[in-house]
Amino acid sequence: MCGIVGYLGFREAYPIVINGLQRLEYRGYDSAGIVLANEINEGGLYKTKGKVADLREISEKNNTKGTLGIGHTRWATHGVPNDVNSHPHVSNSGNLVVVHNGIIENYDTLKKELIKRGYTFESDTDTEVLINLIEEVKKTNKCKLGYAVQIALRSVVGAYAIAVFDRSKPDEIIVARLGSPIAIGIGDDNKEFFIASDASPFIEYTKDAIYLDDEELAIIKLNKEIRVRKIHGNAVVAPDIQELQLNLDQIEKGGFDHFMLKEIHEQPDAIVDTYRGRLLPDQDIIKMGSVDNNITKFLNSKRIVIVACGTSWHAGLVGEYLFEDLARIPVEVEYASEFRYRNPVINKDDIVIAISQSGETADTLAAIKLARSKGAFVFGICNVVGSSIARETDSGAYTHAGPEIGVASTKAFTTQITVLSLIALKLGHLKGEISISDYHNYIQEMSIIPSKVEELLKIDKEVEKIAAIYKDAPNCLYLGRGYNFPVALEGALKLKEISYIHAEGYPAAEMKHGPIALIDESMPVVVIATKKGHYEKVVSNIQEIKSRKGKIIAIVTKGDTQVKAIADHVIEIPDTLEPFTPLLTTIPLQLLSYYIAVMRGCNVDQPRNLAKSVTVE
Ligand code: F6R
Repeated sequence: MCGIVGYLGFREAYPIVINGLQRLEYRGYDSAGIVLANEINEGGLYKTKGKVADLREISEKNNTKGTLGIGHTRWATHGVPNDVNSHPHVSNSGNLVVVHNGIIENYDTLKKELIKRGYTFESDTDTEVLINLIEEVKKTNKCKLGYAVQIALRSVVGAYAIAVFDRSKPDEIIVARLGSPIAIGIGDDNKEFFIASDASPFIEYTKDAIYLDDEELAIIKLNKEIRVRKIHGNAVVAPDIQELQLNLDQIEKGGFDHFMLKEIHEQPDAIVDTYRGRLLPDQDIIKMGSVDNNITKFLNSKRIVIVACGTSWHAGLVGEYLFEDLARIPVEVEYASEFRYRNPVINKDDIVIAISQSGETADTLAAIKLARSKGAFVFGICNVVGSSIARETDSGAYTHAGPEIGVASTKAFTTQITVLSLIALKLGHLKGEISISDYHNYIQEMSIIPSKVEELLKIDKEVEKIAAIYKDAPNCLYLGRGYNFPVALEGALKLKEISYIHAEGYPAAEMKHGPIALIDESMPVVVIATKKGHYEKVVSNIQEIKSRKGKIIAIVTKGDTQVKAIADHVIEIPDTLEPFTPLLTTIPLQLLSYYIAVMRGCNVDQPRNLAKSVTVE
C-alpha cells in the first residue's frame, strides 16, 4: 500500500532513505515525503504530491543533513493525494513525526476527542490523528516516546506499520506493526539501524534483519540492543534476527527497460528456482517437505478450498483444474474478499490453500484467519519470505521467484502454478490416480518446461508487431477453455491493468451467451487454441468470431494449420502436456500487454491507482 524507509546511525540518512523510497515506489506512488534530524537540529521536512523523483528535486534544493531520517511513498487511502496529506505528519508541538502504512479505522472518533482537547489538523489523514494522539498520551502521562506510542496504539482500530521519532531526541526511532509489514535491519554493534516495509532498501548495508510480528513495538536506540515488546500486555519479545537471502542484482532492472519485462524474462529461471530440490526427474520423485510432513491431512482431505485475490486467484483457478484432474480432489476457488465476509462452510477435513505473491494481502490474510478459526488446515503459497501470510498459515511452500517489483504480476503467476502442479502431481501419484508411466511423463515434462518458456520468449518481436496493430483498440476479449480459461482471465487482467484498455476474459463457449454481441471488425479477440482438450470446440468458437468479422489473435501449438488458416495472427507455443499449457500460453499474453502498454505511453511498472501490495481492504 505505502512504503516506509528509515535510518538511524552514523551516516547521512538522506541518500539511504531517498534511494530506499525509490525501491519501494512499487508500493505506492501518489506522493512522497521525508523528515531528517540530527543533534544540532539541522533536519528538514519535505513532502509533495507525485513521485519520489519529485521529492528528490525539492529536497535536494534544500538542506538534507541528518543522521536520522524517515520517509514515505504513499498510496492514498484517507484524503486525496496532495502535499498536505503526504507523509511524514507532524504533531501540534512540531516535535513528533510519523510515517504510516495502513488505515486507522476509528480515526474520526479519535480526531473529535483530540479537537475537544485543543488539537488542530492540517490534513484529512488518519495518520495526523495518530501522531497527535501519541503526543497527547506523552503529555498526559509524562512518559517516554516508546511508552506513549504503545499506549496510543492500544486505542487504535485498524492496520498499521509506523515509524515515529522525536525531532528533539534524534537517537531513537519507535516502530510498530499490526497488519502491515515492517523489517528492521541491524548494522554492526548496533551502530546503525534501517527500517523498511521490505528489506530491499537496506540489503547493501546489512544482512541481519528482524521482521516485526503483529502487535509488536520496537524501541530502536543508537548503540543499544533493539527492545521489542507486545503492544497489548507489555510482554518482552526476544528479537528473532534472520539472515537475508536477497541480493542487489535481484532488485535492479538488469538492462531491461522495465521491471515487468525483466520479470517476464526471468520466468525460466524462476520456475527452476521454484522446483529446485522438489522435482527430482532422475529419481522420478516430487519431494516437498511441507506437503510430506502433512501428507495424511492432504490425502484424507475431502475438499480443497483455494483463497486468493487478483492474479493469485487466477493461479488458484488453474489449481482447481490440476487438483481435480490429477488428484481427483474437489476444489473450490474463492475470492478471499468474499470468503472472509460470508459464513463459509469449512470442515476440519478441508484443506485451505492461500495463494499470495506478497504474502501481505489483507483480504487473503483475513480469509486465512477465518479458515483457521473454523479448524481448517491452512497451507500458504507465497513468494515473499517471512511475510505475514507465510507466518499465519499452518504450513506452506515458497515460490522462490525472487522479488517481483513490477506491479503487474508475471513470474509470481507461473511459479504459483508450478507449486500447485507439484502438489497436485504428488497427491495424484500417492492416491493412485495417475499411472506410474503418466507420473514419469509429467515429471520429465515439468523438468523441461523452463527451456520451453525460454524458447517462447524469443517470439517477443513477433508479439510486439501484433501489439502495434491493436494498441489503440478500446476493448479486447480473451477466450480459453479448460486449463486455459484462467489464462484468458489473466491475459485480460494484464491488459487492462497496465494499458487501461477494457478487456474481459471468458470461457470460449460462454461467448454465445452474451459477449458475442460485442464482436465486430474493431474487436480484437485473443483465443487460446492449443492442440489439447477441446481444440475442435475452440476452432468452432474461432469460426463464430470470424463470421462476425472479429480480429483473431490465436495462441496455437507449434505446427498448427487449422487455426492458422482462419486467424488474423497466430502465436505458436511449444507442445506440452495439457496440465502445463498455462505455463506457456501465459507468456505471449504477458508480452502482448507489455508492448501495448509501452506503445500507449503507460507507466508499465507503476500503473495508475494500483499498488503492489494491497494491505488494506
Ligand atoms: C495483478 C496483480 C494483483 C495481485 C493481487 C494479489 O497483476 O498483481 O491482482 O495478484 O493484488 O496480490 P498477492 O498475490 O500479493 O496477494
